[in-house]
Amino acid sequence: MHTTPGGRRARDDRHFDRWAARYDRSLTQSLLFGPVQRSVVAAVAPRLPPGARVLDRLRTALPGAALFGLDRSSGMTEAARHLRSYLRIERGTAESLPHPDGCFDAVVTTVSFHHWTDKVAAVAEVRRVLRPGGLLVLSVPYDNPLRRSVVNPLLSFVTWRRRRAGMRLGFVEYRFTAREVCRFLTDAGFAVVSVSPNDYAPPRTVGLWVDWQNLTFNPFARLAREDLFLLPRPWRRLALALMRLSPWTAAGEVAVVARAS
Ligand SMILES: C[S@@+](CC[C@H](N)C(=O)[O-])C[C@H]1O[C@@H](n2cnc3c(N)ncnc32)[C@H](O)[C@@H]1O
Repeated sequence: MHTTPGGRRARDDRHFDRWAARYDRSLTQSLLFGPVQRSVVAAVAPRLPPGARVLDRLRTALPGAALFGLDRSSGMTEAARHLRSYLRIERGTAESLPHPDGCFDAVVTTVSFHHWTDKVAAVAEVRRVLRPGGLLVLSVPYDNPLRRSVVNPLLSFVTWRRRRAGMRLGFVEYRFTAREVCRFLTDAGFAVVSVSPNDYAPPRTVGLWVDWQNLTFNPFARLAREDLFLLPRPWRRLALALMRLSPWTAAGEVAVVARAS
């Protein structure tokens, strides 16, 4: 059975609506999304002019800045409004922003871009609402060299076998190479300022652990908190060696800072 983009969008929205009330307190938030958000704040804060308007977690880094937010899910929008009264949050889509041209100093988005249905339209919208010279900070799942050479073919095979066995499949997000995300932003009228790999410090790893998880376990199995993001012992040394060699080899995310030209 094929799922239409509209069907996927509706399913995604239902998922986030349900998750919204406990999203901020969830383990995924503190362990998986937290590091992405912190690295994005670290990347953007020193590059912004005083008084710049940026989202949510940047509040501490930039006291006094006006913060705006937008999300497609009504549940997530309501939860954000309730939890952070200083945030002017609206329900809407990245593909059609309700803001006037050139009104923002920076647009920051974490763990969301891979869900957007029309990425070209959305990034054009982001460009439109940024003032010239304004910053876009984007963190996306990374199609690292280990994934391209080893993990993706293995995952295709495992997925094929699971489909044949009639198993329910887990969510695997679209992953970008660094070159792909940079070209995408350049084509949309941005100049890339920096590109960095984004992951935990070993022995905990996001990219390697998620890959291991996708390949070997039932993705719906419950895991003990202390086991999260820790590979089985024999593989931890390898993870450490790989990440020491270069975090580019196996990092789970890539963070890009780009300037609207
Ligand atoms: C994993 S959550 C991330 C939330 C938050 N940015 C964070 O870092 O914790 C992904 C969010 O993207 C939102 N989303 C997905 N597609 C969207 C779109 N096209 N426009 C706006 N928001 C979208 C979902 O509703 C969901 O709240």
